[in-house]
Amino acid sequence: MTSPRIIAILPSAVADQIAAGEVVERPASVVKELVENALDAGATTVDIAITEGGRAMIRVSDDGSGMSRDDAAISIERHATSKIKTSADLVGVLSFGFRGEALPAIGSVSRLTIETATADGSGTRVLAAGGALLEVGDAARRRGTTVTVESLFYNTPARQKFLRGARSEWRAISDIIGVMALSRRDVRLTVTHDDKEVLTLPPAASLRERLAALWGAAVAEALIDVDDVSGPIRVSGLVQRPADVGMTSRRVFLTVNGRAIRDPGLVRAAEAAYRSTISAGVRPSLVLDIEVPAGDVDVNVHPAKAEVRFRDRWVTERAVERAVRRALGTGDSAAPFGVAPRTSWTFVPESGATMSVDALQAAPVPQAPLFAHPTTHPIDGDSATDAARSPAGDAPVAPDVIVPPLMQLRRTWIGFERDDAWVLIDQHSAHERVLYEQFMQGMVHGNVAAQQLLFPLTLHFTPAEAEAFDEHRELFATLGFQAEAFGGHSVMISAVPSPHARFDAERCLRDTIASLVGDRLGSGLAKHERLAATVACKAAVKAGDLLAPSEMRALFIALSRTTLPAHDVHGRSTIVQVSWDELERRFGRR
Ligand SMILES: Nc1ncnc2c1ncn2[C@@H]1O[C@H](COP(=O)(O)OP(=O)(O)OP(=O)(O)O)[C@@H](O)[C@H]1O
Ligand SMILES: [Mg+2]
Repeated sequence: MTSPRIIAILPSAVADQIAAGEVVERPASVVKELVENALDAGATTVDIAITEGGRAMIRVSDDGSGMSRDDAAISIERHATSKIKTSADLVGVLSFGFRGEALPAIGSVSRLTIETATADGSGTRVLAAGGALLEVGDAARRRGTTVTVESLFYNTPARQKFLRGARSEWRAISDIIGVMALSRRDVRLTVTHDDKEVLTLPPAASLRERLAALWGAAVAEALIDVDDVSGPIRVSGLVQRPADVGMTSRRVFLTVNGRAIRDPGLVRAAEAAYRSTISAGVRPSLVLDIEVPAGDVDVNVHPAKAEVRFRDRWVTERAVERAVRRALGTGDSAAPFGVAPRTSWTFVPESGATMSVDALQAAPVPQAPLFAHPTTHPIDGDSATDAARSPAGDAPVAPDVIVPPLMQLRRTWIGFERDDAWVLIDQHSAHERVLYEQFMQGMVHGNVAAQQLLFPLTLHFTPAEAEAFDEHRELFATLGFQAEAFGGHSVMISAVPSPHARFDAERCLRDTIASLVGDRLGSGLAKHERLAATVACKAAVKAGDLLAPSEMRALFIALSRTTLPAHDVHGRSTIVQVSWDELERRFGRR
C-alpha cells in the first residue's frame, strides 16, 4: 500500500505572502522600498506621507520617469523588473532594486494604488488588494509616480499582531528616511506624518549640509572630513573628533556605492583608526561613503539588501581604516577651543515642527595642516636646520618641518602662532604621543635604543608586581628593558631605554608595574599597545618641567612626525587651537 502524498505546491497568493515576509517586515520597510523605487526612477523630489505610523497609509510620490500603462499593470507581478535582464546584470548593479519583488510583496499584504505617468503618455491608475489586480484605468497626473499603500497586513492577521504602536513604527520610518536622505543628498525630500509637515529637505550640496539639516548644525560642524583613495577604493565622509567621542550619542552610517548598509567589519575597521586616541568603551560617530568597483561587491546577499559581500573584504577594511586614520592625523581633528559640541544628535522631530534648513549655512571647517612643511629649502633659522636633539634619541633632526617661535606657558604648554590660529601643545600629552609611536615602531622593528647600565639596577617587587613583570618580560625587552630574575621577587635590570635626557628608568619601570598590577590601563588596546602607552606616559616629560628652547623645538619636530599628533594615548587632546576668526569674534571685531 502506498502512503498518501502529503507535499503540495502552495497557492501563489500564499507563496507571495510568505515572500513578502522577507521584504516587508514593517511599515518602515515599505517606505524604504518605495523611496528606493522613486530614486531608481531618477526622481529629484520625493514626497512621503504617512498616517498612523504607516499602519493606516504610506504614500510616496516622485517626479521620476513614471511607467507606461502596460508596465504599471505588470509591475505588481513577481519577478517583474526593468532593472536587470540576465543574471550577468546582477554583477555591478547600481540601482537599488533588481529583484522585481518589492511591489508584489507589498501588494500581497495591503491595498495598493499606483498612479503614474510618463513624459509623453497619459496617466494610469492601478488598483490591487491582497495581491489581486482589481482595476487598471486612467488617472490625471504629471510625469512621475505615486504609490499608496493602505491597510498594511489587513489580510495577514498574524503579521498585523507584530506591528507595534504608531509611535514606534513612526520612529522606525523616520530612521529609514534619515538613511535615504543621507545616501541621496541631491534629492529634495518632504515628509508629513498625520498631515503635519515634519521634514523638508532641500537638495544639499554636501554631506555636511545634509547632516546639518538632519542632525543639527552644531553636530555637523563638529565632524571632520574624510577623503582618501587606496587603489580602486575611495573612502569619504565625516567622522567625530576623538575629543568629542562619547560626548554625544553615537550615530553610524555607511554606504557602499551609494547603498546604505550595515557592516560591523567596516565599522570596526574605522574604529581601529581611533586606537590610542580615545579611551576604552566609547565609540565614534561615523558617516562614511565607500566606493569600490561595482564588480567587486555582491549586493544580492540579504533579503532587505542591508548587507553586501566584498570580493576582498580585507582590502576594503584597510582602506577604511587608513582613510579615517589620515583624517585623524590632520589639524582639523585637533580640539577647537570652547566650541565642543554638547548637543545630542537630533532627528526628525515627533512634534511636527518643520525643520527648515534654508537659513542654515554649515560653516566650512578650516583645512589647515597642523604643521607647516617647507616646500623647498628651509628658509632661515626658524626652520629646524640646526640639529636639534630629538627628545627620544640621539639622531639629529632633519629639517622637514618649519618650527615657528615657541614659548612655554606655565611649564605645561607650548604656544605658537599659525596662519589661522593660536595653538597650544600640552607638553606631557605630546611627548607621550611621540614616545608611544616610537615604542610601537621599536616593538615592530626591534630598534628601540637601549642603554647598557654600568651598574645593573636591582628592583624588589611584591609578588603581584613580580608576576606582572614576568607576564610582560618579553615586551619590556622589546622596549629596551633587559632584565633577569634575581631570586625571590627581585629583578635585575641590565639595560634600559633612554628616550630623553631626564628619563628616570627605575621610576618609570616601577610606575609602569604599579599600573599593570592596578590594571588602570585603558583596555581596548592589545597588551603590547597598553604597555607602550603606559611606559610612554611614565617616561614623558611632565607638566611642571621647564623645557629648554631646544627641547621644545625637538618635541615640536618629533610631534609633527607622529601619525596622530593631535591626540594623546588616553583620548585627550595634545593640541588645542583658537582660530583667529574666533578670537576676533570674541573681541567684537567681526
Ligand atoms: N516609482 C516608480 N517609478 C517608475 N517605475 C517604477 C516605480 N516603482 C516601480 N517601478 C517599476 O516597477 C518595477 C517593479 O518594482 P519593484 O520594486 O517591485 O522591483 P525592482 O525595484 O525592480 O526590484 P526590487 O524588488 O529589488 O526592489 C521596477 O523595476 C520599475 O520598472
Ligand atoms: Mg524596487
